[in-house]
Amino acid sequence: MIKVSILGGSGYAGGELLRILLQHPEVEIGEVTSRRFAGRPVSTAHPNLRKATPLKFTHPDSLSACDVLLVALPNGESMHLMPELLTKASKVIDLGADFRLNDPQVFQDWYGAPHASPELLAQFTYGLAELRRQEIKKTKYLAGGGCEATVSILALYPLVQANLIKPNIIIDAKMSSSQSGMDPSPASHHPERAGCVRSYMPTGHRHTAEIVQELAGGKKLDIAVSATALDMVRGLLVTIHTAPRRQVTEKDIWKTYRQFYGDEPFIRIVKEQRGIYRFPEPKILQGSNYCDIGFELDRRSNRLVVIAAIDNLVKGTAGQAVQAMNLMCGFEETLGLLFPGLHPI
Ligand SMILES: NC(=O)c1ccc[n+]([C@@H]2O[C@H](COP(=O)([O-])OP(=O)(O)OC[C@H]3O[C@@H](n4cnc5c(N)ncnc54)[C@H](OP(=O)(O)O)[C@@H]3O)[C@@H](O)[C@H]2O)c1
Repeated sequence: MIKVSILGGSGYAGGELLRILLQHPEVEIGEVTSRRFAGRPVSTAHPNLRKATPLKFTHPDSLSACDVLLVALPNGESMHLMPELLTKASKVIDLGADFRLNDPQVFQDWYGAPHASPELLAQFTYGLAELRRQEIKKTKYLAGGGCEATVSILALYPLVQANLIKPNIIIDAKMSSSQSGMDPSPASHHPERAGCVRSYMPTGHRHTAEIVQELAGGKKLDIAVSATALDMVRGLLVTIHTAPRRQVTEKDIWKTYRQFYGDEPFIRIVKEQRGIYRFPEPKILQGSNYCDIGFELDRRSNRLVVIAAIDNLVKGTAGQAVQAMNLMCGFEETLGLLFPGLHPI
């Protein structure tokens, strides 16, 4: 048994960490922090957890030592606190964006401010088990990938590694409202958000930096992300437009994905001939740690279109973090993560 605490436990990512960890056979939950709910039951913020646990929120100022500290603060917070947080636990997993990029200059270029703890960046491993399993097993500090980056990287990694596609890649991402966290904003106000199909970031999405970092491996990649906000609470779908380098068949693409992901517990290649769920669909991934990936070759325009989906709060955040935590702690990688989702939903 290990003792795991959650800093930022009242947020959406924190709630999902709790939901997953309460079912984890090797985890005892230590503290779950919130400034606004300190002293109140965790079900105050996460009503789905009523009767699942008697835990109460504690204030982050009184955080004590634990084996693994999961940090689920808004972007830009943990880089100020990290030197202190590293004294609280031998293993720390940050779910935010602060420690994902290796290069402090790249961080500044994309996030518009200098990094507050640049000397720590090199100590963090990027969180995708499918790309960095062996490194993750040995690391003490881990940065969970961004949700949009996670699904894009997983969809493209085999194709880039196998040199099957040209370097110009266009990612069209459909985003859900829970991606912006628990605090309301004018854009999330119900009359503004309901029914929307809002192109809120046609260019310049920050996750582009980590997608390039994780995929390029010395190659030149020209990746453009366009993000559209949809009227859905959870889930993320990317439609990725690529051009094959040479004549490829769908069999070649299948073979490549199978070669890289055949043994991956949380990646499914979804490309059916019939039915309504022929390609990945975020709706049926809600609550699950799967990443579904499909594709189709367009002979007329010589494009390979890749479609991939995740639950942003599970494989895109909390599930990914628990998967990595399992590896870091020497547990079975899938522990606590085998919920298959719901249908119909
Ligand atoms: N939402 C997603 O789909 C998603 C996907 C991938 C990655 N992430 C990452 O996960 C992290 C958390 O996201 P979220 O959506 O869960 O955010 P959120 O809903 O806004 O939750 C933030 C949490 O941090 C606490 N907090 C805020 N400022 C704090 C501070 N200065 N000190 C201590 N606690 C503080 C908040 O509670 P109190 O204010 O009560 O203390 C709350 O518990 C972010 O970095 C985000 O990038 C989220």
